[in-house]
Formats: sequence, C-alpha cells, structure tokens
Amino acid sequence: MLSGVPVATQPADLVGDLPGEFIARVNALLDLIEERLGEAAVADTDWVTEAAQHTIHAGGKRFRPLLVVLAGLLADEPDTDALVRAALVMELTHVASLYHDDVMDEAELRRGAPTANRRWDNTVAILVGDFLFARASSLVATLGTDYVRLQADTFARLVQGQIAETRGPLDAELLDHYLQVVADKTGSLIAASTTFGGMVAGASPEVLAALAAYGEEIGVVFQLSDDIIDIASDSSGKTPGTDLRAGVPTLPTLLARRSTDPADARLLALLDADLSADDDLAEALGLMRAHPSVAQSREEIRRRAEVARAHLAPLPEGPAKDALAALCDGVISRSA
Ligand code: IPE
Ligand code: IPE
Ligand code: MG
Ligand code: MG
Repeated sequence: MLSGVPVATQPADLVGDLPGEFIARVNALLDLIEERLGEAAVADTDWVTEAAQHTIHAGGKRFRPLLVVLAGLLADEPDTDALVRAALVMELTHVASLYHDDVMDEAELRRGAPTANRRWDNTVAILVGDFLFARASSLVATLGTDYVRLQADTFARLVQGQIAETRGPLDAELLDHYLQVVADKTGSLIAASTTFGGMVAGASPEVLAALAAYGEEIGVVFQLSDDIIDIASDSSGKTPGTDLRAGVPTLPTLLARRSTDPADARLLALLDADLSADDDLAEALGLMRAHPSVAQSREEIRRRAEVARAHLAPLPEGPAKDALAALCDGVISRSA
C-alpha cells in the first residue's frame, strides 16, 4: 500500500454539523464504495490490476461519490446498491481522466504518490485510463439507458474541456475561455454526480435540474479552489506549481496578467517564461503567493459558492439538503 493522502471516508469535515445517524449512513455507503472501487479495478493480470489500483489506493477525497450519496439520500429509502454503483461509475470515470490528465500535464505526483506515467510510462498510464473507463461503462450499463446517456454526454464534455484547455483561447477572451474549460472539464462530472444521486432517489424533474445546476456550480468552485491550492498549498499531495510550470492558466494567474502595475513586470515575464528550472518556478510561486489576485480569486470562490447554495432551494428539506448546503462552506474553506 502506498503512503498517499488519506481517503476521505469520513465526510463530517466537509459537510459540517449534521445528525450522527445521517453521517453514519453516509459513511457506511462510502465504505462500501471504497471496497467495491478496488474490486472494479481488478484486471486479468496482476500487473494491470496493480497499475489500475495504483491511483485508487493512493487516496483521494472521493468528492464525486460523496455527492452521489448525498443526493441519493434525498429519498428516505433509496436503492443503496444502485447508489453505490452510480458512485463507482463517477469515481472510476474521474480516476481514469486523472491518468490521462497526468500524462498531458506531465505531472509527477498524484494523491501523494508518483503518477502512473512516472512510475511506469505514458503508454501504461493512457491504457490503464482506458481500462478504467471501460470498467465504468460496464457498471453504468447495469443502471439503465438514461444513466449511460448522461455518463457518455458528460465524458464528451469533460474531454472537450481538456481539448479546449490544450488548444488555448484562440480568439476568445482569456477569462471566458478559462471558465468554460473549468465548467466542461470539472463541472460536468460533478453535475453528473449530483444528478446520478437524484436519479437513484427518484427525484422530480425540477429537483434533478436543481441538482445539476448546483453540481455544475460547486464543481466550478471546486476547480477554482484547486487552482489556488496549486499556488498556495504545500500539502495537497500534488507538486505545488504544477499548473504554473505547465503554463496551464488558472484564475489567480489570469487575474494577475491583467495587472498594469510596473511592480508586477517580473511576475508577468515569469508567467510567459520557461519555468522548467526549479529556481524560476520557486520565484514565480513566491511572487504569485504574495499577489492580490489570490485574494480576488478567493472572493470569487465565495461568491460562486453562494450561487451554488441558492440552487438548492427546490430540494426537499432534510439532512441531505443540509449536507449539500454545508459543502458550499467546505469548498470555500478548502482553499482559505
Ligand atoms: C482533481 O480532482 C482534478 C480536478 C478536476 C480538480 P480532485 O481534487 O477531486 O482529486 P482527488 O480525487 O481528491 O484526488
Ligand atoms: C484535471 O484538471 C481535470 C480532469 C482530470 C478532467 P487539472 O489538470 O487542473 O487537475 P490537477 O491539478 O491535475 O488535479
Ligand atoms: Mg493536471
Ligand atoms: Mg490538466
């Protein structure tokens, strides 16, 4: 077993102060999902199994399964086996996209462990990602055509977000392009997670639409906080400055680029420079950490988390709705 960041099977820190009975129910479902995730990655040969379980066992916050479970618990007695399978589909799709993302971003560390592309090579990482997508497809087929369609449409959006990020803004305004990329590459799968939970719960069309809108917004907020973490945190389980080095635009760097203050000249030059040397990356990180654009980004995160919370209005009252609302605060404090 690799020593990675801990698996978040105790969601209490993310969902705040809720009835113990409800938390116990959520935790029991997350434990079951955890057990089944490892099984879903078992392949015909031990070494493929090892490569497929590598990132799963390294840890992860299990944010998408948590959202499936919380939305599913809007019903008093949801089909828990279907809920577990729906959560597995979302996490397997997510992990598969991480294998591919780490190849594209040339990332070395994921969930506190070496990435698959580093530990093996790009070919292994790409094919193991494909293998996990196939496992997700097989599972989603057990849920029904509506689930298959949503998973396929979501994956198409996620991939187009990744392509748009790689291709760059072309003629689009930088910030507009960036926010569209974030909605597509991250918001889409998180919106699908809350929608899957609602579908298992048998929610009305109005509640399903609210869950999708909430998931999309909280997903964007989640990615924006991830972007701040890339700059501001030394304990995320990923290498600080990975996006900066790869030249991946983030909200703080895009806001910093708008500066006309001569004192920012060195930072702006570094943002366009080759940051492969450790000293240059450290200097760029230091200047970014001290820049007001980080505080502005945090303010935008707070604003959008409130937009997400407002989408919850049509949901039936109860601990599941309270937990989804508390998540808005959890996502804000993640990058604080
Ligand atoms: C990382 O997702 C990639 C993004 C879309 C932000 P998470 O931050 O959910 O990563 P894990 O699953 O906890 O490792
Ligand atoms: C990852 O985006 C998004 C997907 C995997 C779809 P990033 O490249 O920004 O995420 P991290 O920082 O590697 O987790
Ligand atoms: Mg990445
Ligand atoms: Mg990326």
